[in-house]
Order: sequence, then structure tokens, then C-alpha cells
Amino acid sequence: MAHKKQTLGEFIIENQTSFKYSSGELSSLLNSIRLAAKIVNHEVNKAGLVDIVGSVGDVNIQGEDQQKLDVYANNKFIQTLTNRNIVCGIASEEEDDFISVNSRDENHQNKYIVLIDPLDGSSNIDVNVSVGTIFSIYRRKTPVGQPVTLDDFLQKGSQQVAAGYIIYGTSTMLVYTTGDGVNGFTLNPALGSFYLSHPNMKFPEDGKICSVNEGNYTHFPQGVKNYIKYCQKEEDDRPYTFRYIGSLVSDFHRNMIKGGIYLYPKSSLLEEGKLRLLYECNPMAFLAEQANGKASDGYRRILDIQPTELHQRVPFICGSKNMVETCEAFIREVE
Ligand code: AHG
Ligand code: MN
Ligand code: MN
Repeated sequence: MAHKKQTLGEFIIENQTSFKYSSGELSSLLNSIRLAAKIVNHEVNKAGLVDIVGSVGDVNIQGEDQQKLDVYANNKFIQTLTNRNIVCGIASEEEDDFISVNSRDENHQNKYIVLIDPLDGSSNIDVNVSVGTIFSIYRRKTPVGQPVTLDDFLQKGSQQVAAGYIIYGTSTMLVYTTGDGVNGFTLNPALGSFYLSHPNMKFPEDGKICSVNEGNYTHFPQGVKNYIKYCQKEEDDRPYTFRYIGSLVSDFHRNMIKGGIYLYPKSSLLEEGKLRLLYECNPMAFLAEQANGKASDGYRRILDIQPTELHQRVPFICGSKNMVETCEAFIREVE
């Protein structure tokens, strides 16, 4: 039976009234993300063609090489988000400090804060493997009309108004939640429109995929090692399949569709793990919970963690509910 394909633009408008403080501003913000996604997608698709791959020479705050496309995506998202009078502050993985958006309108009422990982999985760019963008949206805490402060950004993940990612994969998709389930939209490159292709996405309760960088195995806590051995054991429906793309967005996306768990634990090399609470873990945790999944640092719900710094890292375990709970049990058993 043929049915009308809904575009992302139509979906945003139709669902506007379901937001708690609906005024059209969040819709407009989501539309600017939709626009930036298309621009960055166009550039990502050309990465192998033009001289855009390779490091630009800068090192970001985490001490990693910045690639040209990171810088491009960062600039495009910031530019697009500041163009409308909606966002009052932006923090990005690629910027040392947060940005206070100076609205053109002196009496501006801008109330939204956006946090982004503009290019996730950046080591995959020069080898033609999927990368992504992650975004997280909050309402400011300080009064409107004033400059934003660090406190506006250091909110618990549970305060998120919306979160999502764009995956630049075999097709480009935008997947997001406003706290009412998770919906996925696929870009039709011929028409330049995103269409609702994956309504109401859910993690299967159980899964058979484990995504972890096993190169760090010897440095993992004993509980994590035990869980990995459990996943490899020939028993019941195991061994699981191990799949690791090295781009959180892509690993998460596959695990949500097929059922699986993603792990970036702490290790003796990285005491707090590697992933960033504000730009990566919180938005993914919000999506996971909205899709019946779970996200934890091994002990605590990610969304309950009170952030203390902008670029804070946290151990991250996320995916199918039962798998995450089993992993947590292994970690706690050793303490
Ligand atoms: P980014 O490209 O934004 O720095 O993020 C990369 C992250 C995450 O997406 C990925 O899963 C992980 O780092 C890979 O880290 P390892 O190479 O240490 O496994
Ligand atoms: Mn990242
Ligand atoms: Mn990044």
C-alpha cells in the first residue's frame, strides 16, 4: 500500500504542538540543524575528491589532531545555529570555550543552548568510512537577555530538550528525539529532502553485537574484561559478534537497529574513558533511553551525572537494556 512520505520539515511542524513550551522556536532550531546537516553532508561526500582530507595542523583541547572536515563542520554548524534568533550559547568539542551568541536584536529572548560534536569518528574520514554529527539541546538556566554562563552548559543530561545525530553513511540519516521517542529520516540526495524512514526506533531488549576497542583490553578494569570474555563464550546464544567502527554514531546506529552494546570503559590509559559527557554521552544516552535502551558509566545512569567541566570525559556503556545491565553486574561484581 502506497502511503505519503513525510519529510523532516513536515514532521517538525506537525509535532510542534507536542513540545512542552511550544512556541515554534525549537522547530526553527531543528530546522537549522537540518540545514547544516545537508551542507556538511555535501562536503563529507566530496572528501575523497578534493584536497580536504588531512590535518589542518591545529590540535583541539583534547590533544587530538583536527582534520579539515572537523573544522568545516564545526564552522558550518556554529554559523547556521547563530543565524536565527533562537540560540544563546553553543559549546563544541572543537572549541576550547563556550560561545555566547550575541543576537542582532538587543532585546533578544533566545533561550536555547546547543552542544555539538560536529564530526564524530573523524579518524574514518580519509578511509571513506561513516562519520557523524551529534547534537544536544537545553533550555538556558540564567535569565533570557543576559550573556550565558558556564552553568547554562553544565546541566544534567536529564534536562535535555532534544538530542540527535546525523550519520553520513551509505545513506545520510538524521535521527533525533524531543523526549517522545526516536525517529530517523533518510536524505534523498536527488531531492535534498530528509524523509521519515525509521519511525519510532527501538533497541531490541537483547542483542548479539558487542562494540569495543579490544586493543585496550589489557588496560580495562577486571569487570570489563570478564564481561568481554562472557560475550566470547560459547554458551546459550553466545559468542556474540564483535563489531567496532570507531565512530560512536555509526556503532550506536547499528546497535539500535540490530541489538547490541557499545563500550568505552575507563582504562589504565584513560582514567575517565575517552568519550565526552556533554557532546557525546548525554545526547546518545537520551536517544538510547527514548529507544528503550540504557546508558551507564558502569554504576550510574549517564543522564543523572552532574557535569563539572565542559570537556569532561566519562566511561560509557550503552545499548540494549539487558546487555547493559549484564555488563554493569560484571563491573560491580569485581569492586
Ligand atoms: P571524535 O572523532 O569526535 O574525536 O570521536 C571519536 C570517538 C568515538 O566516536 C569513537 O567510538 C571513539 O572515539 C574511538 O576511539 P578509539 O579509537 O580509542 O577506539
Ligand atoms: Mn566524537
Ligand atoms: Mn569530533
